[in-house]
Formats: sequence, structure tokens, C-alpha cells
Amino acid sequence: MLSIKKIILLLAISALLLAGCASATEAVEEAEEPEQGSYTYADMVLCYPQLGAESDWRTANSASIKQEAENYGIKQLIFSDAQQKQENQISAVRSCIAQDVDVIALPPVVEDGWDAVLTEAKDAGIPVIIVDRSVSADPSLYDVHLGSDMFLEGQRAAEEMNRLLPDGGNIVELFGTVGSGAAEGRADGFRDVLDDNITILDSQTGNFTRAEAIPVTEAFLKKYGDEIDGMFIHNDDMAIGAIEALKAAGYNPGDIVIVSVDGTRGGFQAMIDGWIQADVECNPLLGPQVIEIALALMNGEEVDAEILTNETVYYPEDAADLIDSRQY
Ligand code: AHR
Repeated sequence: MLSIKKIILLLAISALLLAGCASATEAVEEAEEPEQGSYTYADMVLCYPQLGAESDWRTANSASIKQEAENYGIKQLIFSDAQQKQENQISAVRSCIAQDVDVIALPPVVEDGWDAVLTEAKDAGIPVIIVDRSVSADPSLYDVHLGSDMFLEGQRAAEEMNRLLPDGGNIVELFGTVGSGAAEGRADGFRDVLDDNITILDSQTGNFTRAEAIPVTEAFLKKYGDEIDGMFIHNDDMAIGAIEALKAAGYNPGDIVIVSVDGTRGGFQAMIDGWIQADVECNPLLGPQVIEIALALMNGEEVDAEILTNETVYYPEDAADLIDSRQY
């Protein structure tokens, strides 16, 4: 039989041993979570709620993020495809907040309607990079916007249209997704610079897709026919759809001048074939910058609030030489 004294002694020894184990576990846990300022790519869980797969541009953007996540050796990429639906993107962001990711990089399908979910991310202490298109939410609700200057792209497109129609004329516009930073910015920039002697007869959305651009172009041709001298098309996928409709209606390359945006291989081929007369660049290869900015934010470093991509305009005379070097 154990005496009361021995039982008390045994209990005291067990308590001491348990306390020792607990502090050892805490030490291990502390060692697993680096101090802010010393995170590496291997610590990063990055959320990328992609908006969809509507265009070659988007496919290249998704590939860039996935490839660079691998190249930089990040711990985990949580990637989803919202199929161009804002409600799907919002659910994906909420799921990432629930998983307590390190950074959310969000390419928003439209500009409005992000305030609530961005506030939730901010309250959870998760930094947010707005990628590609812009949002109308207060800039205090996110950390950085990284992407193209869509207004400038529109201005560049108008300069090309002015050059191609020096005596003026009538044009139609194939608009991207209504309410998206890309389409609204391009449309505003275009109108800002377009010469007074060029009239925009009509503007309809093709939602940045080839499939939707075909019936819209058919309807333009039916309604305005030979009145149309030019088309401003918000991306190369819609330009390829429009060209299909023009071919089917018996048009030849150059009958209607086309200014497009993106600079995809498809756009380059259409320039070589004589259909597109100028292609304004929009660069989707944002993977390296997204991941480097994400790490800087994890480490509490200062990052510029807006980082715009340096872009150019491509022309048919250079297309054949450049097409093989295009990465998208
Ligand atoms: O936001 C970028 C735009 O989105 C690209 O111009 C277009 O191709 C894509 O769908």
C-alpha cells in the first residue's frame, strides 16, 4: 500500500513531467511559425480565386500563377475558377478566409460589390492583392492593385483607330464584360482620345468570349452593313469570333479595320492574315509579381499601392517575326 505522502509525491512528479512536455510542445510550435519578417516562399499559402476561363489571356494568366507557384516553391496554392460569376468568386474568397490563408490575390470579374468580403478579409488580418482588373471599393480595404492600365489601353486603341481612319468614319464596339474594370476602362480611354470625325454607331457586349462575339457581330452587320468602317474590339478572343462572322458574311481582310486588345498568338495570327490592323498589349503573365508581392506583404514590407504593367502596341508588319516568341 502507498502512503499518502508517497501518493502526493508521485502526483507532484507527474505534474512536473506534464508541464515539461507542454513547454516542449510550445517550443516546437513556436519554431514552426516564423516571425513576421522572416517568412519564405515555402511558408506561403496563397489563394487565387480566378474569375473564369473566358479567353486565351485568362488561360495564360492562370497558367502563369500555377507555374510560378511551383517555380517559387510556395507551400500551397488554393486556385478556383468562378466561371465569370461574381457570387462564385465571393464564395471562393470566403472559403480562403475560413482556411486562414496567408494572402488572397483576387482578379475581380467586375468592379463593384466587393466591400463586404474585402472587409471580412481585412478583419481576419489577411492581406489582399487586387490582380488584373480594378475594384471600386475603398483602397483601404486592400493592399495593392497589380495589373494593366485599362484606360491607357483604350486611349492607345483610339490613337490607332484615328490613324487607320484619317478621314473619319463609322465604327462599332465589341465591349468586354459589362461592369468590369477592363471593359469600362478601355471604353472610357477610347472615347477620351477618339477623333470627332469618327462615330461609334453601336456598342454591344461579347463578354470577352469568341462564342458571344459571333452573334453580336452578325447583328451589327445586319443592322449597319456597309456603313461600318471599323471595329474596336476589347479583346483578341472576341476579335477572332468577329472575324469568323465577317468571313461568313463574305467580307475580306481589311474591308473593316479592326483594333483589338491583348496581343495573344491568335491576335498575332489575325494580324498576319490581314484582319487586325493594330493589337494593344495586355500582359497576363503576372505570376512572378503576384508571388513576390505576396511574400513582401506577409513580411510586413512596404509595397506600392498601385503597380501597373508596362505595355505596348503590336502591328501587322512585325507579327510574323514575333509570333513564335509569344508566350500566350
Ligand atoms: O482583364 C483582362 C481581360 O480579360 C483581357 O483583355 C481579356 O482577354 C480577358 O478576358
